Amino acid sequence: MMKKPIVKIALAASLTFSAFGTQAVLAKPAETVKNQPYKVFDQKIVNQINVDNIYNNIDYLAKVPRVAGTEAEHDAVQFIKNTFKSYGYDAEVQEFTFTGYTPPSTTALSVEGFTENLNPSSFTYTVSGDVTGEIALAGLGKKEELAGVDLTGKIALIKRGEISFGEKVLNAAAAGAAGVIIYNNADGALNGTLGGANDKYVPAVALTKAEGEALAAYAQGQPVNASLKVEGAKIEERKSHNVIATKKPTNKKKATNDVIVVGSHHDSVELAPGANDDASGTAMTLELARVLKDVPTDTEIRFITFGAEELGLIGSTYYVDNLPQSDLNRIIANFNLDMVGSKDAGDLVMNTIDGQPNLVTELAQASSQRLNGVPTPYAEGGRSDHVPFGEAGIPAALFIHEPTEPWYHTPEDTIDKISKEKLQDVAEIVGTAVYDRARFDHMGPKPKKVKKAKNKELYYNENVK
Ligand code: BES
Ligand code: ZN
Repeated sequence: MMKKPIVKIALAASLTFSAFGTQAVLAKPAETVKNQPYKVFDQKIVNQINVDNIYNNIDYLAKVPRVAGTEAEHDAVQFIKNTFKSYGYDAEVQEFTFTGYTPPSTTALSVEGFTENLNPSSFTYTVSGDVTGEIALAGLGKKEELAGVDLTGKIALIKRGEISFGEKVLNAAAAGAAGVIIYNNADGALNGTLGGANDKYVPAVALTKAEGEALAAYAQGQPVNASLKVEGAKIEERKSHNVIATKKPTNKKKATNDVIVVGSHHDSVELAPGANDDASGTAMTLELARVLKDVPTDTEIRFITFGAEELGLIGSTYYVDNLPQSDLNRIIANFNLDMVGSKDAGDLVMNTIDGQPNLVTELAQASSQRLNGVPTPYAEGGRSDHVPFGEAGIPAALFIHEPTEPWYHTPEDTIDKISKEKLQDVAEIVGTAVYDRARFDHMGPKPKKVKKAKNKELYYNENVK
């Protein structure tokens, strides 16, 4: 029967934690423990996790949106740094720059003699400009279509499809166009991005399929003049930061050379306070840093909150790209906590960039099995800061609840949607998984490293063609 070992575990636990007095109880109800090889070393972590710390730090961080490069993000960085410091860490703030974009205040299009109403929208990264010229039908705007076509001073009317919006604008500009109109090839508004800033762009606006087709029919066979105006769009260098707190191995002589990275992103999208995305992961990173601070470990643990994740995984990419190869080789695992506490989301899953298991999923499946009797499932997925780690050949996984909540990237992503139960569950699984590997007496295989090719799709799901 299972009974004997449980008693042993309970005893061992209370002996080990006698310093904690009455807190030396099993954190899990006997029911759960009965069926699991719940380990004494797990208790050491589980007993110390204080979910109210996580909850309160989410509450603090998620008062306002924390868009990368803004003062609010900077305030969050200071708070994270100071919290790490209050736990006894030397927190390091790593600065990096990125190209920031301010969308236009006005986007207008008028066409001589055309009476139908046009509601142009803009493309992210379009430049400002006020241009007047003849409308030129330019097909899909592919290089081969425009070869030998002189668009000098004209406004190119281009249909969506086959190549990216950015390429269409560049091809038209190279043929001399002064402005570009791209219309949708499906119903609904077209809200796209040119993918990045470029000096060679000319002002570009978007129309619906109906608007674009009507305009193309009107401009076919007769010269039609149009005025296109984009005002207030700005491209400028901005600064964001990663915050790094390092726990060195307890005993230098018995240390491994390995490093485990536990991280999250502290920035949010515009208008969203980002309580779940990703103040939840950030507050959990802080709490795990607190819990693990004084437990003996033989493996270095780095707690990192990244900036500018929402703008294309910029902070984590900067971190990985700027590590010396010798340091990169030491990282054996990246636990990425992103959206780990929503009441309204589904169950916990781990996403790896190739859908394959790795050291992170193995450690977390083992810990979730020990704690809850069910291993956390894994699947393929990118879209967060584990991607640059995974692509550098480091075992990495995103911890997230799926399906995601309806508040994702909305002003409704607020503290009242956060579940302490979900936070507790993920913190336990990840905390014990990390500790399982980092503690002195761990046994286990060396992780395998396989370098992956960069896959743009994992970075920009917005880069739609
Ligand atoms: N937390 C999300 C990622 C996410 C959301 C993963 C839902 C899986 C399901 C992240 O902060 C995010 O929004 N990422 C961007 C992509 C990134 C490369 C700019 C996204 O998914 O649009
Ligand atoms: Zn996120």
